[in-house]
Amino acid sequence: MFFCLQIVLAFALLSVVSWAQFHPSEPAKYQRLPSLRDQARILDEWKDERVARIPQLLERYGVDAWLMSQREHAEDPIWWSIKNATDFAAHRRTVVLFLANPLPQQTNPVVWVDNTGKVWGELLDILEASDPQKIVLNVDHNIAFSGGLHVGEFEVLQAELGSKWKERFVNQPMIGIEYVATRVRSQLEYYRMLQETTWAMIAEAFSEAVIKPEITTTENHPRVSVVTPESFPGWQGTQDVIQEGDILHVDYGITAMGMNTDVQHMAYVLRAGETDAPQGLKDGIRKANRMQDIILSEMRAGRSGNAVLQGSLAQMKVEGLEGQIYCHPIGDYGHAPGAVMGSPAGFTNLPVNVPVLGDLPLLPETYYSIELYAYSFVPERNETLRFRLEENAYWVDEERGWEFVYGRQEMLHLVGKTPPSLLLQN
Ligand SMILES: *[C@@H]1O[C@H](CO)[C@@H](O)[C@H](O)[C@H]1NC(C)=O
Ligand SMILES: *[C@@H]1O[C@H](CO)[C@@H](O)[C@H](O)[C@H]1NC(C)=O
Repeated sequence: MFFCLQIVLAFALLSVVSWAQFHPSEPAKYQRLPSLRDQARILDEWKDERVARIPQLLERYGVDAWLMSQREHAEDPIWWSIKNATDFAAHRRTVVLFLANPLPQQTNPVVWVDNTGKVWGELLDILEASDPQKIVLNVDHNIAFSGGLHVGEFEVLQAELGSKWKERFVNQPMIGIEYVATRVRSQLEYYRMLQETTWAMIAEAFSEAVIKPEITTTENHPRVSVVTPESFPGWQGTQDVIQEGDILHVDYGITAMGMNTDVQHMAYVLRAGETDAPQGLKDGIRKANRMQDIILSEMRAGRSGNAVLQGSLAQMKVEGLEGQIYCHPIGDYGHAPGAVMGSPAGFTNLPVNVPVLGDLPLLPETYYSIELYAYSFVPERNETLRFRLEENAYWVDEERGWEFVYGRQEMLHLVGKTPPSLLLQN
């Protein structure tokens, strides 16, 4: 599940941080991102590196060209992942053509911003010269990132290009999915900063600096809730006044530098005299952590989301764990393109097999959000609760598969304990 809060953390030049120093058991700190001018340069470098891989991507899927046409404010979703950092929108009619084998002296993509119709003659000349046999259009019926060609633009393309080229139009949904989902290595350093900032915000929110029992409410956007056996709130969260002894949950993420985080943590509000959470709550977190381990160990590039899901559920059964899994890709979007493992986005109605998105293969060089809950009986409260955690994982390599970008929650945030001095780093 995903909420995004647009933040701009752009105050100063990047202070270079050595990640080797990091350990998530140290308090997370707010991270400063580069200035907007420097961010634009960095985003364009990432975009150039990604775009440079498109010819290979087309070849791998046995197609020769990828053609998009869109108008300002009705952009193909792919546009947002190929645009220059300082572009706001696709102006007028913007036509984009990628070729697996670009002609000499030609840019790849060829981009036309057109309001005279001149584009069509020039596009036909390039098609005649390069003679692509299979031209991918984004016309998929089910997948957003492969189905972004508006019907009006589709009709215009057919009319302007004529039957020779129309017959070469194909749907290959993996092109859009893989292009948007694939990360470049240099994004990781910044993604880690976004993760740490997300953690720092949660740690501050789930502390006595913010929460005053019997006064502070959970009403908030993004969603905060008091955890009870009944509550599994949708987008709205719950509307409670927080009390001592409450268990809190948040589902929260940020958007910056063209990337998104999506994190769920839990907290315990200490009662007077308590210094730690009841053991039953710690046991619940441990079960959710074990589910995370199981899912990460089942994830392999090329395996379908449903296969990972079913493998994980089978292993949970062996270990006597109960709960639900609803993981999704994350990156350019909070819910990025590609294989889901379970049914995320607040729609946990397909717990063991998700058609279409669950049948897609996991892709290497991508990020996934590991989102789940474990049921656990809490003897101190005589009730079974959902322990809901979410952390974001990156692809390390073939051998290690995916690991958490920043870390994972293993201990509840304790409201009423953290020395305020820990909350004021910046
Ligand atoms: C990005 O800017 C370059 C240089 O101005 C231009 O050639 C290219 O077409 C632009 N890319 C897109 C997708 O508009
Ligand atoms: C625990 O809860 C169950 C109902 O869920 C109830 O039947 C039982 O009496 C409770 N036990 C205690 C010790 O309160």
